Amino acid sequence: MSTQNITPAEHVAQVLASFDESKDPRLVEVTQAAIRHLHAFAEEVGLTRDEWMAGIQFLTAIGQKCDDTRQEFILLSDTVGLSMLVEMMAHQAAAGTTEPTVFGPFHVDGAPRRPHGASIVETELGGQPLVMRGTVSSLDGTPLVGAEVDVWQTAPNGLYDVQDDGQNEMNLRGIFTTDSEGRYQFTTVRPVDYTIPDDGPVGDWLGATGRHPWRPAHVHLVVSAEGYKPVITHAFDSESNYLESDAVFGVRDSLVVDMTGGEAVFDVVLEPV
Ligand code: BEZ
Ligand code: FE
Repeated sequence: MSTQNITPAEHVAQVLASFDESKDPRLVEVTQAAIRHLHAFAEEVGLTRDEWMAGIQFLTAIGQKCDDTRQEFILLSDTVGLSMLVEMMAHQAAAGTTEPTVFGPFHVDGAPRRPHGASIVETELGGQPLVMRGTVSSLDGTPLVGAEVDVWQTAPNGLYDVQDDGQNEMNLRGIFTTDSEGRYQFTTVRPVDYTIPDDGPVGDWLGATGRHPWRPAHVHLVVSAEGYKPVITHAFDSESNYLESDAVFGVRDSLVVDMTGGEAVFDVVLEPV
């Protein structure tokens, strides 16, 4: 192909063709689609040199902010709605099953297994006491005995234990097992609205674009049972101020529950594999 006075369309075709000899068809499919969209985006907005450099600096700062406990790239993915989209596509479950939402960066493997009804509060920081309970059942209504319910949430100060030296390790975390009638129950404190980590480049960009970093109050749950598709989800507090403007686009009406009066009921429905 001649490379004299080529058009942007000829230019991107040349870039795409450079992958033709690859032995990994899926890698090529994903790579070529990303390049096509990237070129189309730059053309659509008429990307200037300065804007290109600002983008490079933004991505560089995001990489530099990452360490073992801080994943600024996932935060970017969350705040542009990509994480939620991937979750929606991955969770191919029948209507009637509990809807999924984002996993988030604050799950910890190996949370303590706690008995039915136990408290997950290990560090007393005030807050409104809350009993959270529900059933785990199959799509046909059969209660699932021995299902695992892994839960985690922020303390009343809006921080997860892993963000706060003032909290015990494993504060507000626990794994519960459903009883002979498919029920789980634990004692906690009512979750609060809190901000995603906004002291880095993603927080600066949110501010510059006029967006806020708040997430509506929620309890995270991963619910799994032998022979069933697991679900990664949240129970959202119906009184939260941010249900309409979650910074990571995770709210679904079916996940919003009443947490006033010291009790929240959140039933989970799973689909057989
Ligand atoms: C969370 O809910 O824990 C979370 C989700 C996405 C980004 C930051 C935090
Ligand atoms: Fe959260």
